[in-house]
Amino acid sequence: MGSAVTQAISSNGTSTYEPLSSVWEGSDGELLEEMFRFYATIKPEPILDATYNAGRFWKGSRRRITSMDIDPQYKPMIVGDNRKMTGVPSARYGAVVYDPPHVGPQGRDKSKKRFDVDFGATVECGKAHDWNLSYLYPPFLKQAKRVLKPEGLLLAKITDMVNNHRSKWPHCDFMRMAEEAGFTVCDLIIKVRTGPMVSNKWETAHHARKRHCFWIVCRNGEDCER
Ligand SMILES: C[S@@+](CC[C@H](N)C(=O)[O-])C[C@H]1O[C@@H](n2cnc3c(N)ncnc32)[C@H](O)[C@@H]1O
Repeated sequence: MGSAVTQAISSNGTSTYEPLSSVWEGSDGELLEEMFRFYATIKPEPILDATYNAGRFWKGSRRRITSMDIDPQYKPMIVGDNRKMTGVPSARYGAVVYDPPHVGPQGRDKSKKRFDVDFGATVECGKAHDWNLSYLYPPFLKQAKRVLKPEGLLLAKITDMVNNHRSKWPHCDFMRMAEEAGFTVCDLIIKVRTGPMVSNKWETAHHARKRHCFWIVCRNGEDCER
């Protein structure tokens, strides 16, 4: 059949396939496998995880991952800035996975879980950047395009946020910027988690408590359809 999607011919002769829901309630690792199965037209490996951190996506996975992080404490294979990707060869990877910081430093991160540090929320996100982290995307996208093979996949986990009393929409920024960088944006998958983040810091709420993030599927090519 020549397609990465599982296909079969049913008893009445029509083609059937394994669908992928646009809403995902499982883990990121499981979703990544589903996205490779559903979208990949070339072998996804080797895979570059450009924001590796603790590598939570790959626990139990047998995939061949090149890990990159700007923070050496996570001991990635490449300690480096994904906006430069110094020394990374062009057209090398079948997939690039990107999970950038969603918020800047929270300032009062006294929790035992050390949320800021553990999730890389240490990047400048103040007035100079319109209280948003989308400025990180264009230089990264340029490098992702360079290191991906033709038709390779870019899979990005992006979370919207409220900062300085305003809603910010980085997933919209990312999709627009990816198109501008020459990618075709193929899909947007909503990943839902079971419980909202709880904090006793807030006494009132003006925005819905986010229980979702987005996975944005981009192809380094002209078409989405296989
Ligand atoms: C949200 S965490 C990623 C979590 C990871 N996906 C996991 O499952 O463990 C974001 C990571 O991006 C890294 N990071 C931030 N800016 C970066 C940059 N310019 N280049 C490479 N890594 C960066 C941070 O150090 C942090 O470890």
